[in-house]
Amino acid sequence: MAEHISTRNPNEIDKLRRAGEVSALILTEVAKFVRAGVTTAQVDAYAAELFEREKCGNAFHGYYGYPGHICISVNEVVVHGIGSDRVIEDGDIVSLDVGAIVDGWYGDNALTVPVGNVRDEVRRLLAVTEEALYRGIAEAKQGNNLADVCGAMEDYVKPFGFGIVRDYVGHGVGRHLHEDPSVPNYRPKHRLPHLKRGMILAIEPMITLGTWKVKVLEDKWTAVTQDGLPAAHFEHTVAVGSHGGEILTERPRSALPEQLGITL
Ligand code: MF3
Ligand code: CO
Repeated sequence: MAEHISTRNPNEIDKLRRAGEVSALILTEVAKFVRAGVTTAQVDAYAAELFEREKCGNAFHGYYGYPGHICISVNEVVVHGIGSDRVIEDGDIVSLDVGAIVDGWYGDNALTVPVGNVRDEVRRLLAVTEEALYRGIAEAKQGNNLADVCGAMEDYVKPFGFGIVRDYVGHGVGRHLHEDPSVPNYRPKHRLPHLKRGMILAIEPMITLGTWKVKVLEDKWTAVTQDGLPAAHFEHTVAVGSHGGEILTERPRSALPEQLGITL
């Protein structure tokens, strides 16, 4: 079937902004909870409490049978990590992915938290992945092609020599978690659509320290790097605007080089 990309009017974007705000609030609070010594199941349980408190829907729980409330992906886990008895350790990086539903509208966002003493090159990986997200968002403007968003992320990341995950991509979002179009983190071979104001995109670069190749574990969800090296993941829900993307899941940046004590 041909791709259909919805555009949302300002009133609809207001509703998406509410879903985005709650998604960002929960993500940010869970990020503060993450520390060495806690299990990822405890992180998931804490997130579940926040969904209760905020009285919003959960976009992931039960989605194609997904058992967790959020995704918690440690080190070599790229995406879709499920809370378990895995204990978070000093030096780990933990990717958190949160999706909330408010009045039938969806928000989706993610970030990677460094825990304690994280190796320099892994901190660089975080900074580069977050910056790639913002490079992509800047290109999410009316008149651009979607390939400009994808290409901006690829062009930024490539010189660092990091891997760009290909098996998982960003997506349209709005009335469902996943809508058209797909938003790869690299310039694809086929043509991509032009961007119109009010299109809603979940832009989510997943970048690895080594190979871009991933495999899915027995549980059918957990995606890990084939070489076991760490991966980072940052995501925002964004409305295509006239000058760039408007972030609907706004939160303070957390992986600027100066915040991480590194230079790129
Ligand atoms: N942000 C991820 C995505 O868009 C999270 C999905 S988790 C799932 O694919 F469980 F809902 F699949
Ligand atoms: Co997403």
